[in-house]
Amino acid sequence: MPQFSEQFLQELSERNDIVDVVSGYVQLTKRSGSNLFGLCPFHSEKTPSFSVSPDKQIYHCFGCGKGGSVIGFIMEIENLSFPDAVGFLARRAGMAMPEENDHGESKRRERMLHLNRDAARFFHEQLKTPAGQTARDYIARRGLTARTVTNFGLGFAPNTWSSLTDAMKQKGYSERELFEAGLVRQGKSGRGVYDTFRNRLMFPVIDVRGNVIGFSGRILDDGEPKYMNSPETLVFSKSHNLFALNLAKKSKSGYLILAEGNIDVASLHQAGFDSAVASLGTSLTDAQARLMSRYVSEVVIAYDNDGAGQKAAQRAITILEKLDVRVRVLRMEGAKDPDEYIAKFGPDAFRNLLEKSENHVEYRLDSLKANFDLTSDEQKVAFLKEAADIVAQLPGAVEREVYAMRLSEQTGVPRAAVLDEVSRRRKQRARREHKEVQRTESRPVRVAEEPLKGVRIQDTEAAAAERNLIQFLCHDPALFRTREPPDAALFVTPEFRHIYEVLSERAKRGESLDPAVLTGELSSVEFGMLTTMLNAPTELSNSEKALEDCIYILRKKQHGSGNDTDLSALQKQMIEKKGYGG
Ligand code: UTP
Ligand code: MN
Repeated sequence: MPQFSEQFLQELSERNDIVDVVSGYVQLTKRSGSNLFGLCPFHSEKTPSFSVSPDKQIYHCFGCGKGGSVIGFIMEIENLSFPDAVGFLARRAGMAMPEENDHGESKRRERMLHLNRDAARFFHEQLKTPAGQTARDYIARRGLTARTVTNFGLGFAPNTWSSLTDAMKQKGYSERELFEAGLVRQGKSGRGVYDTFRNRLMFPVIDVRGNVIGFSGRILDDGEPKYMNSPETLVFSKSHNLFALNLAKKSKSGYLILAEGNIDVASLHQAGFDSAVASLGTSLTDAQARLMSRYVSEVVIAYDNDGAGQKAAQRAITILEKLDVRVRVLRMEGAKDPDEYIAKFGPDAFRNLLEKSENHVEYRLDSLKANFDLTSDEQKVAFLKEAADIVAQLPGAVEREVYAMRLSEQTGVPRAAVLDEVSRRRKQRARREHKEVQRTESRPVRVAEEPLKGVRIQDTEAAAAERNLIQFLCHDPALFRTREPPDAALFVTPEFRHIYEVLSERAKRGESLDPAVLTGELSSVEFGMLTTMLNAPTELSNSEKALEDCIYILRKKQHGSGNDTDLSALQKQMIEKKGYGG
């Protein structure tokens, strides 16, 4: 567990006002009571349910349930470990980091990044060796230039079991470090390791800060698997990164081109399309979409021309749309992917495609049309209904007119009828959205009944008592001045037990329960639960008795309702002590 002193963490959070910090990532556009609201950066939404409390210096999302201090916010949004987030904020506030507080994890990350960089260099050097001939041939066959090889830092993993291991050991890295970075695998016998990447064209994956975080290796022939990727490590998360974003973020084009393959991306950059990226062998994730939306407000999807690619494009549209990113979809004819298209028809042809690439409405209407047989009246009506719903989502009246006209031409249904259907759908949508807004706006007030995300409640009575105990501990620590907080073992709900354990242990040691000092010990989901509980209004009058009630309920649960002797003994004890039940 990271150990920073309370004093340091408190000063850190004082010097990094949560409203300032969050405003760097989220537009806080609404105010409700003393809280500020904006669109949550951690899940996709259209109406703000992400709140920041300047008083409590915490954030909380009523939509996804995440919450925490300013440090937790930075951990989550920058995808950093606790110590790294502390370092990030210390730098932001110009504070010196206490040396002794570096307890290893950030050192391990740093070492892993060094190792990755050295490994990338090693792979790159291998291209120049005699053994690298096969890779050089392959690169030439794929039409990649020396400039592209340098630009992407491409390399070659030799067809041996330990070239990388040997070279890295020589540089002072241990087998364990190589293993943790995913560069070697453990042999079957359990003894010894072997190189993960062998006889492959190596693509280093570089994050936006320029760190080599992982690798993607393509086989040089038709073998399987075609690509091998680094596993998830301390520094590499596939779902949070995009291949070549380090290069594409510098593009002046104003949009990103989202392709499927590493080779496509390399070819695109080589042909002058310097804003191409690819998701790392997964379908586009929410996190990757958010990452893109930090750099651009428009994405052009250039996925493969096959069924899988088109399906993936539909999914990507849905994800990007939620973030208000403009989406266009490129349609290639006569080639299976951008790489092949450029090789066959040249960069100018591709630029032409880019310029006339359809906005996603056109694309969606066309793909929708393909599912219906428009010679049948029944299907025509079904098509029009769905198509009208797509058109209804367009913000501009002129745009809606244009597409309604087109639908009318395609189906032979009068334009007025199409427009009627569109406006009906529009009203329907407006009503639905209005309801949604009302729901989110009223949430902070109804917070008491807010179900807690991610909690597996087995026993509602116990859960209510547990929630109360946590609230007492936070709101009314004086209650525990003369008595120890009850033991966490009494808790039935596992998620609450851990939160309570952390809080009560600190309380027992007389330590602060300030959000800033809790960050390293609670996950953002747990913190979200805690902030929900703390936001809920509490009935603090007669809290001594209420506290006894809670403890009584939990003890009763633990002893089982069948055990009368224990129960009555307990009750008796309580009556003597506090006048309970009198
Ligand atoms: P593709 O099969 O389209 O590869 O997979 P490609 O990069 O376009 O290569 P060529 O042109 O066919 O030689 C698209 C992406 O999916 C991931 C890789 O990131 C690849 O670039 N992938 C593919 C894997 O992670 N594993 C695989 O086995 C295959
Ligand atoms: Mn491909």
